[in-house]
Amino acid sequence: MYRIATYIIALIILADIPALAETSTGTPTDIIPVPQHIETADGVYSWPEPTATFHIDGGNGTLAEYLKADSLSEATDENRADILISITEDDGSEAYTLTITPGKIIITSPGEAGAFYAIQSLRQMTRCGSVRQLQCCTIADAPRFTYRGLHFDVSRHFRSKEFLMKQIDAMALLKLNSMHLHLTDAAGWRLQIDRYPRLTELAAWRPYKRWEDWWNGDRSYCTQDAPGAYGGYYTKADIRQIVEYAHTRNITVIPEIEMPGHSEEVLAAYPSLSCSGKPYVDADFCIGNDSIFTFLENVLTEVIDLFPSQYIHIGGDEATKKGWAQCPKCKLRMEQEGLADVDELQSYMIHRIEQFVQSKGRTVVGFDEIMQGGLAPGAVVMSWRGSEPGIEAMEQGNQAILNPNAYYYLDYTQDAPFKEPVSIGGYLPLEKVYSFEPLPDSITGTTAQNLLGVQANVWAEYITDDSHAEYMYYPRAFALAETGWSQPDKKDYADFRRRALALIEQLRLMGYNTFDLAQEYGDRKESNQPLRHLARGAKVIYNIPYSRQYPAAGDSALTDGVCGGWTYGDNRWQGTMRDLDVTIDLGSAKPVRYVGATFLQSVGAWVYMPRRVDIYLSDDGEHFTLAGQAWCDVPDTSAEIRYKVYSTLCDTTARYVRLHAIKHPRHGAWLFTDEIVIN
Ligand code: ACM
Repeated sequence: MYRIATYIIALIILADIPALAETSTGTPTDIIPVPQHIETADGVYSWPEPTATFHIDGGNGTLAEYLKADSLSEATDENRADILISITEDDGSEAYTLTITPGKIIITSPGEAGAFYAIQSLRQMTRCGSVRQLQCCTIADAPRFTYRGLHFDVSRHFRSKEFLMKQIDAMALLKLNSMHLHLTDAAGWRLQIDRYPRLTELAAWRPYKRWEDWWNGDRSYCTQDAPGAYGGYYTKADIRQIVEYAHTRNITVIPEIEMPGHSEEVLAAYPSLSCSGKPYVDADFCIGNDSIFTFLENVLTEVIDLFPSQYIHIGGDEATKKGWAQCPKCKLRMEQEGLADVDELQSYMIHRIEQFVQSKGRTVVGFDEIMQGGLAPGAVVMSWRGSEPGIEAMEQGNQAILNPNAYYYLDYTQDAPFKEPVSIGGYLPLEKVYSFEPLPDSITGTTAQNLLGVQANVWAEYITDDSHAEYMYYPRAFALAETGWSQPDKKDYADFRRRALALIEQLRLMGYNTFDLAQEYGDRKESNQPLRHLARGAKVIYNIPYSRQYPAAGDSALTDGVCGGWTYGDNRWQGTMRDLDVTIDLGSAKPVRYVGATFLQSVGAWVYMPRRVDIYLSDDGEHFTLAGQAWCDVPDTSAEIRYKVYSTLCDTTARYVRLHAIKHPRHGAWLFTDEIVIN
């Protein structure tokens, strides 16, 4: 017999999966992202022994290459093939039809990519080769959005090309098609650029492994041969290999070269590109300096030669703009170009770079700050500070990708902080990632058409190891994939969670580290129901106002009975960058036995415990007596998220209770509390 191909066995070998019980049957209702249309039929398909063969009609050969790389063999005679694939147009379409009958598997798609995705659906149904019987069915499927991306911060921690290729495999299984590589940032430059060797001789290495140690230390760079040098970079050969590997799996690798901010490492290697002209001073390129355009255009030329991606990401986020207003060259540029302010100066630079990238036939993508001072006409906005900037860009006629941090920053903690690894902060459980709807009903027509899709980001400051990185991606990337691919009316969290639990098992068997969804703890219990206490509903007089940025419920927030969840950013914690100093009016003199408030610390987000809390009581609101003090005993050196109740017991009557929380002395430190409880 000709059937020597080893589809199943090959995938088992590739993924090193122990075979599951022969009796289990793979079903289309387990697939993530949920397909558009599924019709089940009677009967099962049994994989032939030892395995199955494929035949492809049409296409450009990429899929055949992929299948053969998995040690499958191609049947020259289509009548003998077990999997019959027909690619009718080769038009880039990602849509497909997959029909499983008792005797054959038939795949049709207008494009190579669609046929590839039919294979991925099949891989999920077979649990990557460990299930030998499949439910007969027809799946007709197509993506909702053309762009479905995952971001990798390889600057904060360099990841090997093997790590990236392993994630490309998982992305393919999830029908994600864009890998955004954040190749440059203060923590390290990660790409060989022939014309500027110091970028990889110096700016790719630092003397500390842990980002926190480096960031809180001297933030210096070193050469590769220095003792303890930590870092790395991709050679051009590495990138070609990654790009090719991704291409075979319908994934485009999008390079990001940061500008004008987050560029400390470049300016350490080439100080003349900064406003001060000195290393270790500036974070932003000097826009008054013509040589930065020469530098960036030379770098981008090499990048464009290396990456076939239509999209070239130029960062654009969080420039400090600190040096520009004082810099004579920047001032001259603003004068000569009639630029009103530093925002327009930034916009001038982005426009120039956009024109350059466009002259090479490519399209610029930038984080939403590129809108400041005027958006370049052809630029794609990657909207991270909520969806609003992206929607505004779409309304202006630009295209956008939504990656709002509140839903898609997978570096945020995914479960109760006490059981999770230290993170940058936040609280982003799977269900919240899943709940994001990119296009509310109010956005329609051409505005809606300008949405390219969605992306999740994983910034790696606190994610040193590869296994920790995988833990942050999976299963939350499943939720992103389903929002990016599936129609909204097909989405259902309970069903998704069931499928996610199974896919987690599959990924674990394939050697990925994932969050253990089955053991999810969930929300902070205190936040689940309103708290009853003596001061609930009482008037709060602010001796120092709270921050307009984090008002929670405003003037009533601290006595509304509503406790915060795991993160200060959930609109239930009230924030201030000053002391918290409030007086609560109980309306009349009442017995007071307890006064307390919970504070939160998340050092990664500059949120600190108060140094001390003083509690005073008064009958008339003018003369106060100190009733108690509570001191901080939580170290401020760890980024671990902590909660602490500062309280005092008393035994008296009072109408007014004043609580004064003294903030951490660090400049820029925040103080957050959710409720002042009096009993
Ligand atoms: C960003 O998170 N600064 C894009």
